[in-house]
Amino acid sequence: TVTYLADYRAPEFLIEKTHLTFKLHEGYTDVNSQLTIVRNPHSTHADHLVLHGEQLELLSLAVDEHPLGAGDYQITPQNMTVHNVPEHFILQCKTRIYPEKNTALEGLYRSSGMYCTQCEAEGFRKITYYLDRPDVMSEFETVIIAEEGAFSTMLSNGNCLSDTVYAGKRIVHWHDPFKKPSYLFALVAGNLVCLEDHFSTQSGRQVLLQIYTEAKDSDKCHFAMRSLKKAMCWDEQTYGREYDLDRFMIVAVDDFNMGAMENKGLNIFNTSCVLAHPASTTDAAFQRVERVIGHEYFHNWSGNRITCRDWFQLSLKEGLTVYRDSEFSADTNSRAVKRIEDANVIRSVQFVEDAGPMAHPVRPDSYIEISNFYTVTIYEKGAEVVRMLANILGPEQYRRATDLYFSRFDGQAVTCDDFVQCMEAVSGKDLRQFCLWYSQAGTPQLHISDSYDAARQQYSLTVRQHTPATPGQTEKQALHIPLKIALYGSKGVLALVIDGQNKGTETVLDICQDQQTIIFEQVAENPVPSLLRGFSAPVKIFYAYQLAQLQQLILLDSDGFCRWDAMQSLMRIVLCNAIDGKDNHAEQIMLVDTLKQLLADHASMDVALLACMLDLPSEQYLASLYDKANPTAISQARTQLQQQLAIQLQPELLGCYQTLQDKIQGLSAPAMAARSLRNRALAYLLHINDARYRNLAQLQFAQANNMTDQFAALRALVHTEHAGSTAQEALQAFYQQWQHETLVVNMWFQVQVTRPWGNVLQAVHKLLNHAAFDARNPNKLRAVIAAFTNQNFASFHDRSGKAYQFLADQIADIDQRNPQMAARLLTPLTHWHQFIDEHAILMRKALESLSQCELSKDVYEVVSKSLMN
Ligand code: ARG
Ligand code: ZN
Repeated sequence: TVTYLADYRAPEFLIEKTHLTFKLHEGYTDVNSQLTIVRNPHSTHADHLVLHGEQLELLSLAVDEHPLGAGDYQITPQNMTVHNVPEHFILQCKTRIYPEKNTALEGLYRSSGMYCTQCEAEGFRKITYYLDRPDVMSEFETVIIAEEGAFSTMLSNGNCLSDTVYAGKRIVHWHDPFKKPSYLFALVAGNLVCLEDHFSTQSGRQVLLQIYTEAKDSDKCHFAMRSLKKAMCWDEQTYGREYDLDRFMIVAVDDFNMGAMENKGLNIFNTSCVLAHPASTTDAAFQRVERVIGHEYFHNWSGNRITCRDWFQLSLKEGLTVYRDSEFSADTNSRAVKRIEDANVIRSVQFVEDAGPMAHPVRPDSYIEISNFYTVTIYEKGAEVVRMLANILGPEQYRRATDLYFSRFDGQAVTCDDFVQCMEAVSGKDLRQFCLWYSQAGTPQLHISDSYDAARQQYSLTVRQHTPATPGQTEKQALHIPLKIALYGSKGVLALVIDGQNKGTETVLDICQDQQTIIFEQVAENPVPSLLRGFSAPVKIFYAYQLAQLQQLILLDSDGFCRWDAMQSLMRIVLCNAIDGKDNHAEQIMLVDTLKQLLADHASMDVALLACMLDLPSEQYLASLYDKANPTAISQARTQLQQQLAIQLQPELLGCYQTLQDKIQGLSAPAMAARSLRNRALAYLLHINDARYRNLAQLQFAQANNMTDQFAALRALVHTEHAGSTAQEALQAFYQQWQHETLVVNMWFQVQVTRPWGNVLQAVHKLLNHAAFDARNPNKLRAVIAAFTNQNFASFHDRSGKAYQFLADQIADIDQRNPQMAARLLTPLTHWHQFIDEHAILMRKALESLSQCELSKDVYEVVSKSLMN
């Protein structure tokens, strides 16, 4: 069944107070709920109450202390209807659930002995009967009862009112003073240790900060704690947002479907997003921890104090919070690199989603299973939409608008429109056309052409916009697209004059029509346009750059994103020529020459930016440039170019590697940047069949004192076909050293299944039978199956189609236990339409075989939408 935004109705009943008692027993848990319910004064006059509830064993039910009999209520697999209820009453309900058997990791479940919850979006209904929708906000009290001595830690949201022992039972009582929807409820019980610290807020309140983990991970929480304090400070300074409870808790769990969850006062994290230690964690993982800690913390205001009216508004909290965490990262690390990373995700993942069967707007109109809509469109494109608003308003007005949003809607469940209205109210701008970004799916394309009139000293840019059709949306309207630009002349950046007005050296063109022309005056020479500076909108740009123009931008543009983007364009031209079998001589010379200059001059450059500029466009991105892509040709062209660049840039790469040697100690930004450039250089060099470079990697592997360098060396060895026994020995040594660190073992899995040579599917099968593999653990599934199908383009698209069928078979199996994970793993098969028939047919066949199985709602939605037409 499909849920539609257009069908939204306010709830018939509200739940003023929620009192829950959890009795934890080995094998089962009894949940007693006492709900104070009132009829919604703003709604119609239904006299029966319909609650959500799934997979619950009802033990008893009473209204105002009167036990209900069989005729008083009705139960279906999804709901319970209670007939003839009064205006105002207390519903008491006892249910039994089985956390030990919960392999879907939704609701209350056990992860290595520890009880924990994941309720967003609709998991609470697997705990007890409830109005499990975000516009029903309630004050929660939770009592947890367990055998005395069974658990050191028993947590729920808010403040702890009491912790007592009575008749051999430990009873812990929690109260959350802030009203919240059920999806923010959390409970944890286990034997955990805790790192504690304090934060004093800008108004001088003391907050207790706690990070709970299993004892073996107690040494890996310090970075997360530092990140948390940094995030709390940043949100006070940047948004004026202060934390509101006396206590903020984070719990790390091994088995978790997503990254983390912002439950009020009790965030639950995947261990991969909170644990970090220099010996066992890469720089990229450190940055991820910092970002996710920030993200979940920022949700306390953008998500919890102000939440979503319904799940169609998911981007209201996720888009805003991703924008906030992205700015937090940009402020703490390299802003240019962060912008490049974000743009890269949009281009190589979100644009691909837009081009596929699951394309949807930032605010979808319908869904079958909401879990399938925790997507890059809702999150990352949603964040780009907020970023565009922030840029349209400017920093001062944007801050006033968010202040207004937080005060106007505090304690409420609201919509994306409510957010935009705050932006309009403060700025006085008409944002009606801009709002199409929320409702219209698909990637806008900007086709840009220019002309120069030397006699008039005029330069004109003509911009045509077009958004291709997406499933269910054939007619697209023109969007309001902020296009930030600059013009470069032979001596550098030019002053911009439009309609006699001086615009400085950089300006934002408001592209609002299907086609419009902008004329720049007093332009003394034919300039090079620097387009979409800072990736000012999530759009595709088409402009026919000449090679020399790209080179000029790569070497001289002051905008880091545009430098990187120009390099990507140059690489793309070379790669596409190779894929299309066209002559490529001049282009290759230009590319090598440009890279030579950059590498030789690395001392004067932003090293982190230079490292990004060495990366070739991903195979997925290259495929998206074609109507029907040939995956084999794409992988081959890319591997060949890597080899050629390695050979031709050999002295420069080696030079970089050696001179940066003494800059790589510690966790400072320059050290991380130096490591990232060196390790890219090393990876290139290993493309050359030369024992010197293999020895270099072997030495780095053996001597590294941090995971970034150790793992980069391992990767370089395992990923080269020539390394033979050296790579095998390194793999073995790595496992020996790290077998007791699950997160590192996951990297060990991942590096093997992403190997770009040989029969990898065979290796995957072997690893699935490895003692350290566990098909019930999502991180393991991601490390083996998702890494293989998403990050090993060549092997996944093997001509035999065996990898396609392998994925379908795995999903059929995983779906029995964990539908959310199964649906997520399916993504690579949904893009069949991107590829030449030879592949598309085999991918469809795998999807069809899956459609013959008994499927969850989650997988059914993705499979059926993928097979339409
Ligand atoms: N709200 C969480 C976050 O973005 C993600 C929860 C995802 N849950 C799900 N069932 N897909 O931080
Ligand atoms: Zn979030």
